[in-house]
Amino acid sequence: MCTNRLTRPCLTAIIVSFIALQPLTTAQDKVPNREPDVIFVPTPYEVVNKMLEMADVRPGEIVYDLGCGDGRIPVAAAKKYGVRAWGFDINPVRVKESLETVANGKVKHLVTIKHADVFELDLSKADVITLYLLPALNVKLIPQLDKLKPGCRIVSHDFNMEGVRPKREITFSPNGGCEHRIFLWETPLEKVRPQ
Ligand SMILES: C[S@@+](CC[C@H](N)C(=O)[O-])C[C@H]1O[C@@H](n2cnc3c(N)ncnc32)[C@H](O)[C@@H]1O
Repeated sequence: MCTNRLTRPCLTAIIVSFIALQPLTTAQDKVPNREPDVIFVPTPYEVVNKMLEMADVRPGEIVYDLGCGDGRIPVAAAKKYGVRAWGFDINPVRVKESLETVANGKVKHLVTIKHADVFELDLSKADVITLYLLPALNVKLIPQLDKLKPGCRIVSHDFNMEGVRPKREITFSPNGGCEHRIFLWETPLEKVRPQ
């Protein structure tokens, strides 16, 4: 029996339990400790709705917003389409705001918010991915997006993904105001050679 001293059987038991617990800790659970790659600028709600419409969100699908800011995209997806949605942000302040948006939207049963670095994520469960990052960050995500199942849609506010041909691209001016671009890709990604 283990008292206050580590005996060999006790140590073995601890090591075995530790090893057994390892697969339960995924990259999704890692708490990031670095600065965001881009600051928070929210996507206007009219653009959020257009992004989700372009992504053709269907019942039963899962939406991921990579860098979710105040959580407006996952909450909009849950409220408008009744789907499960996940928001990931590296900034704990944004995570807190997102959790408030989820609570205010009464969609706690559909939306999960995680404090995570999007470059550490396994995206395999997503059907739709929304982005409002930066062009270079979209490109950095390509290796992860290449692992998505076929038929997933990726929509990006304002920023293209160099080297991958979009399926559709629109320019949109809500209420005649400033122009927003939205890019849509579908997996498998269609790669293009640099000019
Ligand atoms: C331009 S905002 C977009 C917010 C939201 N998606 C929207 O469209 O309203 C970008 C967000 O990405 C987050 N971010 C930056 N780098 C990140 C990273 N490596 N992993 C996770 N989130 C990140 C920022 O904290 C910020 O909230």
